[in-house]
Amino acid sequence: MVIVRPCREKDLALLRAHIPTPGQPDRHATRFERQQNGHSTFLIAWMDDLPVGAGEIFWRGCSAPEINQHYPDCPELNGLDVWPPELRSQGIGTTIIAAAEDITRHHGHHWIGLGVEDGNSRAAALYLRLGYQETGRRYLDRYTYTDSDGTRHDIADPARFLVKSLDRTAS
Ligand SMILES: CC(C)(COP(=O)(O)OP(=O)(O)OC[C@H]1O[C@@H](n2cnc3c(N)ncnc32)[C@H](O)[C@@H]1OP(=O)(O)O)[C@@H](O)C(=O)NCCC(=O)NCCS
Repeated sequence: MVIVRPCREKDLALLRAHIPTPGQPDRHATRFERQQNGHSTFLIAWMDDLPVGAGEIFWRGCSAPEINQHYPDCPELNGLDVWPPELRSQGIGTTIIAAAEDITRHHGHHWIGLGVEDGNSRAAALYLRLGYQETGRRYLDRYTYTDSDGTRHDIADPARFLVKSLDRTAS
């Protein structure tokens, strides 16, 4: 059985041990800090007391300005990941998404959005199956990572933004 709940500080050690963040060694702590500052809710999926996935709700919406200007009040589910890969396609991602939608609805929001990078057709197919809709809005998903030589890389991956209504009567 999978349980999804917001991250607690004491979870960070297990997260670091079980969910790698290559090139971004402080990623779990950074996400937890954003949650503690009220900017996000950092959701962790647990199976048999081990973390097996994560996702983060950005309450101020997508950080890309080309999206945020059109969807300023639409929280974004960001950085969805199930780990290890052998646990994928067993419904864990769907469970995290459902939890994120419930929490966002309870915060009084009517919409949730997420970005999907070009080439991640499997994730896109999952989101569309779960009721997310194309907005036609594209953007560059920007992030940095540091490789094993210590060289920092600034990445800008082309992506598109999808949204889903959280109004149950609309679906
Ligand atoms: C994308 C991702 C988060 C989805 O999580 P997931 O746990 O694999 O997703 P789910 O299992 O809920 O659903 C995905 C698939 O499993 C199937 N599925 C769902 N519940 C299932 C179940 N109980 N039993 C068997 N299959 C199931 C779905 O039909 C879907 O089929 P597909 O494999 O053909 O796409 C995960 O695959 C992942 O971490 N990928 C790498 C990182 C990534 O791409 N993140 C998304 C960034 S936008």
